[in-house]
Amino acid sequence: MDISVKTGDVLSASSELTMLASFEDSALPANVAALLEPNDFRGRAKETLLLYPRGALAPRRLLLVGLGKREAFTPETLRQAGALAVQKARELQAPDVAVGVQDELPLPADAAAQAFAEGIELGAYRYWRYRTELPAEQTFQVKRVTVFSKAQEKQARAGIETGQVIARGVTFARDLVNGPGFEVTPAKLGEEALALGKRLGLKVTVLDKAQLTKQGFGGILAVGKGSANDPRFIVMEYGAAKKDTPTICLVGKGLTFDSGGLSLKPADAMETMKSDMGGAGAVYGAMQIVAELKLPLHVVGLVSSAENMPSSTAYRPGDVVTTLSGKTIEVLNTDAEGRIVLADALFYAQRYKPAAIVELSTLTGAVIIALGAHAIGLIGTNQALADQLNRAGNASGERVWQLPLWDEYREMIKSEIADLKNVGGRAAGSITAGAFLAAFVGDYPFAHLDIAGTAWADKPAKSYNAPGATGVGVRLLTEFLRHYE
Ligand code: BES
Ligand code: ZN
Ligand code: ZN
Repeated sequence: MDISVKTGDVLSASSELTMLASFEDSALPANVAALLEPNDFRGRAKETLLLYPRGALAPRRLLLVGLGKREAFTPETLRQAGALAVQKARELQAPDVAVGVQDELPLPADAAAQAFAEGIELGAYRYWRYRTELPAEQTFQVKRVTVFSKAQEKQARAGIETGQVIARGVTFARDLVNGPGFEVTPAKLGEEALALGKRLGLKVTVLDKAQLTKQGFGGILAVGKGSANDPRFIVMEYGAAKKDTPTICLVGKGLTFDSGGLSLKPADAMETMKSDMGGAGAVYGAMQIVAELKLPLHVVGLVSSAENMPSSTAYRPGDVVTTLSGKTIEVLNTDAEGRIVLADALFYAQRYKPAAIVELSTLTGAVIIALGAHAIGLIGTNQALADQLNRAGNASGERVWQLPLWDEYREMIKSEIADLKNVGGRAAGSITAGAFLAAFVGDYPFAHLDIAGTAWADKPAKSYNAPGATGVGVRLLTEFLRHYE
């Protein structure tokens, strides 16, 4: 979308649709107040009112959007307002929109413009690749958004630019995760990585089944064994030539479909399991953004990709898997497959001697029970890293909540016949999964982000999310990396 910045009064510019956002109980300009009764619009969070000035003002339609209380304002408020504006414009089939904020915002102009642009771009997203019949108001494309800024035009423009780069990364992740399992296979993920590398100059390596076998990726191979779609291990490297910059490893779970394997899931639990690659999606989106923003870091994206299927070649409960690290895993439940494929990727990450390993996965149903759709579960071995991710979560609106990793939890996944077992019982299911992963990272600072509750939304609570994949993690990682110290 074309998003531009202008200085001046948004109400003096003619447009098909003009959005004016204001805080709760802040006074509207007199020429707007004259169009409505005092109690018609209070500026409460997410409140909207559409007015037809009929010549009394330059815009043909005026959409008032409430920002809620000033004390409760965060960048998230602007993301949601941006999404509302573009969705209303689509509904009304208005090709161009002007937007302005009535009040001074408690946020620098670039950060405000970035959040707003993210909301506009993400609010316009739908996954309609397989729909052949669409009503006109749904296919309607909003062409132009003009943001009226009172000052600091240059910062606003830079913020919009950044917001658009970030939104493209999120959209990339959403498309991959929304893609059905028959289409987005591990091989396809490999091809996507190679294409990304070519486009942005990343060094990309894709290991196929033969190479995985030769190099001993026992975890990925075991999980992928039951499927005709062979597994892959994918490495994407940005800034490899840089000296004296910290190396950050981003690791993603890329189960292109998780049936549960022989420990088969019930039908309803399987419906959305094409989305079991939300972690991989986040890593792809973040790698694209890191390269486009040319961040001064060395970032390595690692993705373990497999399809978890039941068949006569599938791995079984009771099997013992020897991972890349040499550590052995007793498989008790083939549906706890994420931690097994990630064991190889996390061990592999150590070869980069990273300053931090941040891993994302749709790992446990238990994290949905604990936090619902409103927070990412964080389990880590390094408090400074966890604190940085927490800060990035608040700034990006992709909030994280830390769970403890005490030794008692590590005890719960010790096996009698192997080094580890892949389930530790129902109690503390998300934490024991994190403890399992932590066994493969050595002493490197490590954070596991469980996005099982946040990667997918049938009925999204946030206006800038569409039904389906959210692309969660992309904005969190971007914020974390941009401010990494
Ligand atoms: N991919 C699932 C976790 C999941 C559940 C993601 C719901 C998104 C929504 C994972 O592979 C899984 O099945 N985990 C099991 C582990 C259990 C067998 C220890 C779970 O959470 O039930
Ligand atoms: Zn599973
Ligand atoms: Zn899974």
